[in-house]
Amino acid sequence: MSLALPEAEAPVRAADLAARAKINLALHVVGRRADGYHLLDSLVAFAEIGDRLALEPAAGEADELELDGPFAAAVPAGADNLVLRALAAAREVASQAHLDLPAARIRLIKRLPPASGIGGGSADAAALLAHVAAWHPALRAPLRQAGLRLGADVPMCFDGVPARVFGIGEAGKPVAVLPAAPTVLVNCGTPVSTPDVFRRLARRDHPPLPPLPVRGFPDVGALATWLAPTRNDLEAAAVELVPAIAEGVADLCEAGALFARMSGSGATVFGLFADDETSARAARDLAERHPGWWVAQTRLSSLS
Ligand code: C5P
Repeated sequence: MSLALPEAEAPVRAADLAARAKINLALHVVGRRADGYHLLDSLVAFAEIGDRLALEPAAGEADELELDGPFAAAVPAGADNLVLRALAAAREVASQAHLDLPAARIRLIKRLPPASGIGGGSADAAALLAHVAAWHPALRAPLRQAGLRLGADVPMCFDGVPARVFGIGEAGKPVAVLPAAPTVLVNCGTPVSTPDVFRRLARRDHPPLPPLPVRGFPDVGALATWLAPTRNDLEAAAVELVPAIAEGVADLCEAGALFARMSGSGATVFGLFADDETSARAARDLAERHPGWWVAQTRLSSLS
């Protein structure tokens, strides 16, 4: 029996969804699964900036995707786009619960550089899946699981809260408190292939992260102090492929960052700053020094 919902409850009614950039504040590679995927122990946060998805019911029977924003040309416009793949996956999950997910028209405003270690496509897919989950909470677990099949970073973006993430990215334990730390994101413009970075790893059995403080991090100073002895185990391999990553980290430190490091498999690097004034000045300095680079001033977010 099909439980077609009244129009007002349909998940494709007009909505404006945020797909925030994810930042791996620390990322330790602690093992490898039999299928070749790597086991991680990562502290993940989100930025206030990200892509946006404007959703409305489609005029016809088919899903429609319109791309907009500074990085629109850098992502596939067709069925390969992760947003359309997420929608198809969500429809499959919904149909197993005998629910209809009508055709949607989606305008994706692509503000994050793709293949850059900050979620991008994963955040877009996760925003769509989380929107459907909000419409029907009983589907939350299978939608999150469907997200994992789209990409290892999708479940953490689906949860959308700062978390310590385990497994290949599918298991998350929320962090109690994370400050809205002034942050600058910098990307030199070279896309990085995640499998290439993982393939180049010299070691795959690093120790896990140190324990997180029970009460979380009261301020950016406490966060920077905790991060100091941690690592991104993918950074050295990514720097071999794209040496400008190391330059970005050095420039952020020189511009006054309390802490700077690469996120994910790169090439985006982040700097954490004591206040918005310093982060604004650093963003200006870096944009001037590297006119072709993407530089964004933002803050860490704890909102989903
Ligand atoms: O899941 P996702 O599409 O993001 O992963 C891209 C590739 O990165 C995988 O096919 C795998 O080679 C590598 N990867 C990995 N371990 C992870 C995540 C990704 O080896 N935890």
